Amino acid sequence: MTRRAVPLGIGHYLPDRIVPNAYFETLVDTSDEWIRTRSGIEQRHFAADGQTTSDLATRAARAALDNAGLTADDIDGIIVATSTPDLTFPSVGTIVQANLGMTRGFGFDVQAVCAGFVFGLCNANAMIVSGQADRLLVIGAETFSRIMDWTDRSTCVLFGDGAGALILGVEDGVGTSQDRGILATDLNSDGRYRDMLYVDGGVSSTGTVGKLRMQGNPLFRQAVEKLTQTADTTLARAGLSADDVAWIVPHQANIRIIQGTAKKMGVPMDRVILTVQDHGNTSAASIPLALSVGVADGRIKRGDLVLSEAIGGGLAWGSVAIRW
Ligand code: UT7
Repeated sequence: MTRRAVPLGIGHYLPDRIVPNAYFETLVDTSDEWIRTRSGIEQRHFAADGQTTSDLATRAARAALDNAGLTADDIDGIIVATSTPDLTFPSVGTIVQANLGMTRGFGFDVQAVCAGFVFGLCNANAMIVSGQADRLLVIGAETFSRIMDWTDRSTCVLFGDGAGALILGVEDGVGTSQDRGILATDLNSDGRYRDMLYVDGGVSSTGTVGKLRMQGNPLFRQAVEKLTQTADTTLARAGLSADDVAWIVPHQANIRIIQGTAKKMGVPMDRVILTVQDHGNTSAASIPLALSVGVADGRIKRGDLVLSEAIGGGLAWGSVAIRW
């Protein structure tokens, strides 16, 4: 018998305010055409004034609990992947715990920027496989609109707000790649790349929140190479190949990065779940949002092999193979 962390339910929440590309034509020197062709983004959602990351995370968590037919009492812990917490502390995880009325277990945050959900899933997998927990809520939630420089056209058009939540439970598998659940993972970071994507403020440096800064083009080139490498590593660890992948559910930063990675892996685009056009780049929320959309519309089915990969500030990157 092999303990496996298996998906039990998934849900998401997007703020009501939808912002089309045309909005940015009034802010900076840009065009709908540039944004569409360079990034694939057509619209994104922005949180309302006063709406926090924990508000979005809580809505997504409730949707995932409903989808799984569970209540907060059934959950042993909450892991929130976010780089845009409500407060410096306490964690968004503990705020969501209180919002859900959960008085046992634990909540905490992981911060690996756009790769955060993959890092959160790997943490949850390790806890479940080791017997530390049986049911965990893993959430990716962001309000990147709060760290945009609205005068910087190279970044402000790219990001959006949202949250997705996945509930993992435990199931006994036989130890082969045919088992349901998380089959293999790969995590990486390289702090030498910190200037490629960062926020220019923080608690122990400036004492301010800061704004996002990005060298988009060099990052683009790193992304395709590193995402392909991590996907290959995870599939090899699982004893699987790209032909076995039913769905790539990638981080949704740029359609050209997604296309380039799928092409290098040899996976056709009709086996890739795309939400970048509707959500923009929602950082750690983008993978659980895309998983939730793919499950809700019936594309991702029980037994499908799902491969998720992500890269972001750090640089930090990684991937996870899950049999749904
Ligand atoms: O989620 C974390 C990971 N993030 C990523 O992986 C993002 C990676 N990077 C990208 O997605 C792309 O590099 C961008 C979408 C950010 C930019 O696309 P690009 O094809 O790499 O364009 P570029 O940065 O090389 O810029 C090309 C031109 C420049 O003008 P010049 O120097 O050629 O005259 C930019 O100033 O496009 C200009 N530009 C814009 N023009 C209109 C940059 N932003 C805009 C804009 N509207 N919003």
